[in-house]
Amino acid sequence: MKAITVNPPLNGFEYRDVDIEEKGTRIRILENGICGTDREIVNGQLSSAVPPSGYGFMALGHEAIGEVLEDSGPFRKGDIVMPVNRRGCGKCLNCLLGRPDFCETGDFIEAGIKGMHGFMRQYIRDSPEYLVLVPPDIRDIAILAQPLSDLEKSLEEILSVQGRLYWKCSDGTYGCRHALVVGTGAIGILFALLLRSRGFSVTISNVRDATGLEATIFSEAGIAFFNSSLGYAGLKPNDKFDLIVEASGSDASLIPSLLSLLKNNAVLGLFGFSRSGMANLTSIDLQNIVYKSISVVGLINGQKPHFEAAMRDLVQWKHMWPEVSRSLITREIDVNSISGMSEVMYRKMPGEIKTKIVW
Ligand code: BGC
Ligand code: ZN
Ligand code: ZN
Repeated sequence: MKAITVNPPLNGFEYRDVDIEEKGTRIRILENGICGTDREIVNGQLSSAVPPSGYGFMALGHEAIGEVLEDSGPFRKGDIVMPVNRRGCGKCLNCLLGRPDFCETGDFIEAGIKGMHGFMRQYIRDSPEYLVLVPPDIRDIAILAQPLSDLEKSLEEILSVQGRLYWKCSDGTYGCRHALVVGTGAIGILFALLLRSRGFSVTISNVRDATGLEATIFSEAGIAFFNSSLGYAGLKPNDKFDLIVEASGSDASLIPSLLSLLKNNAVLGLFGFSRSGMANLTSIDLQNIVYKSISVVGLINGQKPHFEAAMRDLVQWKHMWPEVSRSLITREIDVNSISGMSEVMYRKMPGEIKTKIVW
């Protein structure tokens, strides 16, 4: 079968005819999404990327939907499913209990990223245990459920950290909690939408003005946009946050300024992978973290319950925010278009939110 493969740490990608031995339900891949992780692998920049043992290549891709080709377990022929991308190390307690997002050994594997073939290929076989049903209503945007699953897990983690205090408002909602999402990539936008749909008041920032498409999305979902090119000093003096999510992978030097924007008992969630710089924290910064009971938490990877939550949210968003739902997939590329693929695999396209590859 045809596959898009990589050979980390080398850069580049190729079309390869592969024969991969797998067990489980047979699935015909319909679509893949591309994210920053895929592009880091294709550019030879992701040091954790490694082919499965015994292979001199790895099929790329961890965002996929496909059609079930045979009745199997809870699935019927013709169902559309999405595979879960991270699998356990088989050794640690969290992996054995289905939470490889909290793998204790670090020996987990990830489809198309680390030690496991990914889903950018004509067919896969997988155990129903790792497959999530796609509601037919959201077939067109379902590819977003993989990145959104990471964020469902992240929000669950944030809420569990905040279980340390009364964080719901007196009316039982999160309406009095103000969140800042840094970055307007796919992750930033999905995170802002998720927080908004849970009732938070949300501001999203980038170091430029919002594009027309972003402005449409933010206006329909009731999200405020802030241009932080001159820093955050331009925010209203009392505009401090209960939650800041770093979703841009910016230079580490941004962190002290984000800490200064946090209210008492707030959370700073780090999702983006920072690639440069240094976060210089003074003793006063550290005193503030203590004095204000600030939590800093790393956010990564969702598991099956989070994929299911992501599917439910996408269904809800389609009804709540039809314009948003129509705007998130910004480009579709035919997998057979070599020029199109070369264009999208290495770098983010101007105006891109999510690019998908169609088989
Ligand atoms: C994926 C996550 C994964 C992470 C680290 C992201 O692109 O969406 O599920 O855990 O990369 O490899
Ligand atoms: Zn990804
Ligand atoms: Zn583990």
